[in-house]
Amino acid sequence: MPALLLLLLLVFTAANVSASTGESPIKNVVILALENRSFDHMLGWMRRLLGLPIDGLTGAECNVDPTNSSLPPVCVSADAPLVVPDDPGHSFEDVLDQVFGSRPNGTADLPNMSGFVRSALSVNTLLSSDVMRGFTPSLLPAFSALAADFAVFDRWFSSLPGPTQPNRLFLYSATSHGAIAHDKLRLLAGYPQRTIFDSLAADGLPFAVYFKTIPTVLFYRRLRTVRNVATSLHLYDPTFRSHARRGVLPPLSVIEPRYFDLTGTPADDDHPAHDVANGQRLVKDVYETLRASPQWNTTLLLVTYDEHGGFYDHVATPVAGVPSPDGLRGPVPFFFKFDRLGVRVPTLMISPWIKKGTVVGRPPNGPTPTSEYEHSSIPATIKKIFNLKSGFLTKRDEWAGTFEHIFTQLDEPRTDCPETLPEVPFVRTRPAKEHGLLSDFQRELVELASFLNGDYMLTSFAQETQKKMTVKQADAYPVEPEVTLRRKEGEHLPGSQVLGVEDHAVPALPDDPKSQQHQGVAHRWDEAMESSGERRATLSQVGRRGGSMRPKAGKPGPQPRTPEEEMQQVLLAVAERAAGSRQDPMPMKHGAVGEVFFV
Ligand SMILES: *[C@@H]1O[C@H](CO)[C@@H](O)[C@H](O)[C@H]1NC(C)=O
Ligand SMILES: *[C@@H]1O[C@H](CO)[C@@H](O)[C@H](O)[C@H]1NC(C)=O
Ligand SMILES: *[C@@H]1O[C@H](CO)[C@@H](O)[C@H](O)[C@H]1NC(C)=O
Ligand SMILES: *[C@@H]1O[C@H](CO)[C@@H](O)[C@H](O)[C@H]1NC(C)=O
Ligand SMILES: *[C@@H]1O[C@H](CO)[C@@H](O)[C@H](O)[C@H]1NC(C)=O
Repeated sequence: MPALLLLLLLVFTAANVSASTGESPIKNVVILALENRSFDHMLGWMRRLLGLPIDGLTGAECNVDPTNSSLPPVCVSADAPLVVPDDPGHSFEDVLDQVFGSRPNGTADLPNMSGFVRSALSVNTLLSSDVMRGFTPSLLPAFSALAADFAVFDRWFSSLPGPTQPNRLFLYSATSHGAIAHDKLRLLAGYPQRTIFDSLAADGLPFAVYFKTIPTVLFYRRLRTVRNVATSLHLYDPTFRSHARRGVLPPLSVIEPRYFDLTGTPADDDHPAHDVANGQRLVKDVYETLRASPQWNTTLLLVTYDEHGGFYDHVATPVAGVPSPDGLRGPVPFFFKFDRLGVRVPTLMISPWIKKGTVVGRPPNGPTPTSEYEHSSIPATIKKIFNLKSGFLTKRDEWAGTFEHIFTQLDEPRTDCPETLPEVPFVRTRPAKEHGLLSDFQRELVELASFLNGDYMLTSFAQETQKKMTVKQADAYPVEPEVTLRRKEGEHLPGSQVLGVEDHAVPALPDDPKSQQHQGVAHRWDEAMESSGERRATLSQVGRRGGSMRPKAGKPGPQPRTPEEEMQQVLLAVAERAAGSRQDPMPMKHGAVGEVFFV
C-alpha cells in the first residue's frame, strides 16, 4: 500500500512538473481523419474478441425492424464485410432517425439508438443488416495492433449529428459555421472561421497538409492563400515520407486520404463502398513512417473518423451542456442549435509516451462537468500542447475535453513500440468502379479543385460533374484539367471563366520548408503572384510543388483581363449562384467573397 501511494505520488508529481513547466513531450502532432464509420462497427467487437476493456458490444444490442413486428429484431454481429455495396444514410435527418428511432419533435432528450435498421431500410432492405454488422478484429489488423499497444478513446463523438463536411470543418475550427449539411456554394466560397492553423501561425509555428487528391482543408477560406499553398500543402507521396525521414515534420501535420477509387490507386478513406483494407494499409503506412522517423520520440498520431456513416453504435449521443460554438443556427426546418453531439466514432491515439493498452473514457479533467471528447478536442489539445497565445476558436473547443494528460504519465518514451504493423492481406472483393459517376462528396472535391484552379465556378460545371464526370476523370482533373474536360482548342463550356495565372510566372519550390532556398523561393513566389496581379493559389501550382502533377498547358486564357475585371466577374457569378439558392437562411455576404482571393 505505501509503495502504491509512493508511486501515485511520483506519477502525480511528474505530471505536475510537466504541467507547471508547460513543456509537453509532444512536438509534432499528426492527424488522420477517415470517413463514415461508427465506433461499434470498427472497434466494438474488440471488447469480446480481443478482451480490450472498452465500451464495446456484448452481442445483445438490437434494433427492431419496423416493417413487420413479427420479424425478429436485427442484432449486432461480428461479420462486417470489407466492402458494403451501399452507403447508409447519414444526413442530419437520417441521424435523428437513427438515434431516436423516430423523427423527434425538437427534443433535447437522450436518444435510445434504436432507429439504425429503420433508417437503413429506407435506403435498401439488404442494408438493414449491414448497418448492424461490426468488424471481426482480424479483418482490421492495423487497428487491432494499435488498439492493443496504444490508446483507444471509447467516448469520442462526431461534433454534430450530420454528414461529412460540417464534421470535417469542426476538426480544425471547432465549428461548422452554421452548416449541418453540404452546402456547395458555401463550400466553394470557403468557410470564413478562424482555424487552429491560424492560431499556430500567430505563434510562428508551421503546419503541413499531406494530401492524395484534393485537400478538404481548402474548404476553409483562410487557408487559401499563396503563402499557405506554397509552404504547407504537399502531396502525401512522396513528401510525407521524406519529411518524416529527414525529421522535418512541422508541429501539426494533417493527412488527407485518397477519396477516389481507381484500379491502380484505390481509395483509402474507408468510405462505403470503398474497401476498408485500403484504409488499414494507409494507417499502417503512416504509423511505420512515423515509427522510423528521428522525430518518433516527440510524435503523437491521432486517427479518427469524421462521422459514423449510418452504422450502428450503442452509446447514446450526448446532449447535456453541449454549447453552441458561435451562436449560429442551422437552416430550416430544424434551426439546429448545435446543442447535441453526433454518433460515437473510432479514435485511436499513438505515441511512445502512451502506456500500452490505454483506454480513454470521459475526459477526467473537465474543463466542465459535461465536457466530452469530440472533434473540437483536437484544436483544444493542440492549443495546450504548444501553449498557443491565441484564445479558443469557439465556445465548443473551450468546452471539449483535452487529452494531454495521457502522454504525461511516463518519464521517458517507450522503447518497445512495434516497428511494423501486421500485413493487411489483399482481397479486392469488387473491382473499382472507376467509370461510375461521382458521389456528392467527390463532386464537391472536384468542384473545389476547379474553382481554385480558375476553370469554372458556375452551375455549368456542377452539372458537368454530376451528369458526365466519372471517378477516373475526377481523379485526373487536378492533374490535367483540360484533358478531363475534353475541351477543344479555344472552346469553353458555357459560363466558364478562365482565371488561372500564367504558370511560368511561378517558380517551383524545393521540398524542405526549412531550407533557406525554400524560403527564398517562397518569397519570390509571393512576389511573382503579386506582380501578376493575382494572389490566388491554383491547384496546378499546388500539384507542381509536390512534383507529380503537371502544370497546365502553357496556353494563355482567352483575353488578358485586369484583376479588377476578373474579381468583378467572380463576384457576379457567386452572387448569381447565391440568388439561385434561396433555401439558405443565411445568405452569403457577397462582399466577403473577395477574401477568397485577397486574404
Ligand atoms: C412478417 O414476418 C412473418 C415471419 O417471417 C411472415 O410470416 C409474414 O409474412 C411477414 N409479413 C409481412 C407483411 O411481410
Ligand atoms: C410537435 O411540436 C409542436 C409544437 O410544439 C406541436 O404542436 C405538435 O403537436 C408536436 N407533434 C408531436 C407529434 O408531438
Ligand atoms: C426509443 O425512443 C423512441 C422515441 O422516444 C420510442 O418511440 C421508441 O419506442 C424507443 N425504443 C426503444 C427500443 O426503447
Ligand atoms: C460520407 O458521407 C457524406 C454524406 O454525409 C457523403 O456525401 C460522402 O460521400 C461520404 N464520404 C465520402 C468520402 O464519400
Ligand atoms: C527515443 O527514446 C528512447 C528512450 O529514451 C531512446 O532509446 C531512443 O534511441 C530514442 N529514439 C530516437 C529515434 O531518438
